[in-house]
Amino acid sequence: MDLLDFLNHSPTCYHAVQNTADILTSEGYQPLSETEVWSLREGGRYFVTRGQSALVAFRLPRRDFRGFLLSAAHSDSPTLKIRQSAEAAPVGAIRRLNVEPYGGMVMRSWMDRPLSAAGRVMVRGDRGIESRLVDLDRDLLFIPSVAIHLNREVNRSGALNAAADLQPIFTQGDVTLRALVAGELGLPEERILETELFLYPRMNATYLGAQGEFIASPRLDDLQCLFACLKGFLAAGAGESVPALCVFNNEEVGSVTRQGADSTFLTDVLERISAACGKTPGEHRAAVAQSFLVSADNAHALHPAHPELSDKTEAPVLNGGVVLKYNANQRYTTDALSAAVFTEVCRRAEVPLQRYSNRPDLPGGSTLGSTAMAHLSVPAVDIGLPQLAMHAACEVAGTRDTGALIRAMAFYFGCSLCRNGDGSVTL
Ligand code: CO
Repeated sequence: MDLLDFLNHSPTCYHAVQNTADILTSEGYQPLSETEVWSLREGGRYFVTRGQSALVAFRLPRRDFRGFLLSAAHSDSPTLKIRQSAEAAPVGAIRRLNVEPYGGMVMRSWMDRPLSAAGRVMVRGDRGIESRLVDLDRDLLFIPSVAIHLNREVNRSGALNAAADLQPIFTQGDVTLRALVAGELGLPEERILETELFLYPRMNATYLGAQGEFIASPRLDDLQCLFACLKGFLAAGAGESVPALCVFNNEEVGSVTRQGADSTFLTDVLERISAACGKTPGEHRAAVAQSFLVSADNAHALHPAHPELSDKTEAPVLNGGVVLKYNANQRYTTDALSAAVFTEVCRRAEVPLQRYSNRPDLPGGSTLGSTAMAHLSVPAVDIGLPQLAMHAACEVAGTRDTGALIRAMAFYFGCSLCRNGDGSVTL
């Protein structure tokens, strides 16, 4: 599966994690369940999921491993979530769906384009309440803008209201969304108990630009980083630490969920790995102290129409390589030590590296790294790939940058990072 396939087949966080799990399984990784006690063998390859939308995959080089080499990316993207009471009262014989924004989206970008719905559904199955992924996978929904003749201000102000303007048109008939979902799953409607469905734009990822130098797709933030970390993780050689690929959900809504970075998921998994390898609590603490985290989430590239919004000197460009993110107020985890380690990783992997800082008078966003660090405090660096139109329905990034991050992560996951007794770090 290449990046385009991965993007096209991952319309929601649930599909992104399912596809990641499928790729890992095809590479010989064994699924573990959080509800069972783990017995792990030397040389084993494993993954565990939580909430069907977060995942940690790891390899065990040996039972007396040194530490954990971690990466983090997120599976979710801003979208519109469909309410349980899906159909709104008809207006002019048109029924629309009741939806609610998920995350900080560029609302206008979702208008005037075919949309569909996908997600997960709880059904009454043979073994009790079962979860099924569903993708209606057809041109189904549309959020029409108001014609310019009826709103001459549309190109000047054009503010949108989530309650009034974003409900997509669905049907002029009496069909229900639940009936469509039941049909897609081949189940009688009464067996559908609950749904978590999200809208997604009906477009495939594509290369564009005169030389195919750009990639345009929904959900590049953060599936591009997720995919690059996964590929690097799979390509890495064996070191003395446990390489662990982490995917969290709900970054776009603050991460405070059971499957978010602000949960016990990562610490639970690492403690269980150490316990299964016979490490005492003290030995586990020492292994954590020998660990490192690369928090990978896309970064704003210099916008050609608005270069003034970027910092004057630390403004990454598309196809300029992996972005190292800094913030004086530590919204990003990067510090001198972690930046030096990651810079050395990129130098050894022959990967171009560029720096990002917010314009000093603009507050930036925070991401996975600092959130995860509240639970597991290890040296961490915030990085990403440069992109434009972040949180729009379709985003744009540089074609060559994905390969750069894959090479960097392949070196990182296989390195023998060690914090020595005198405070120095060797790679
Ligand atoms: Co992101």
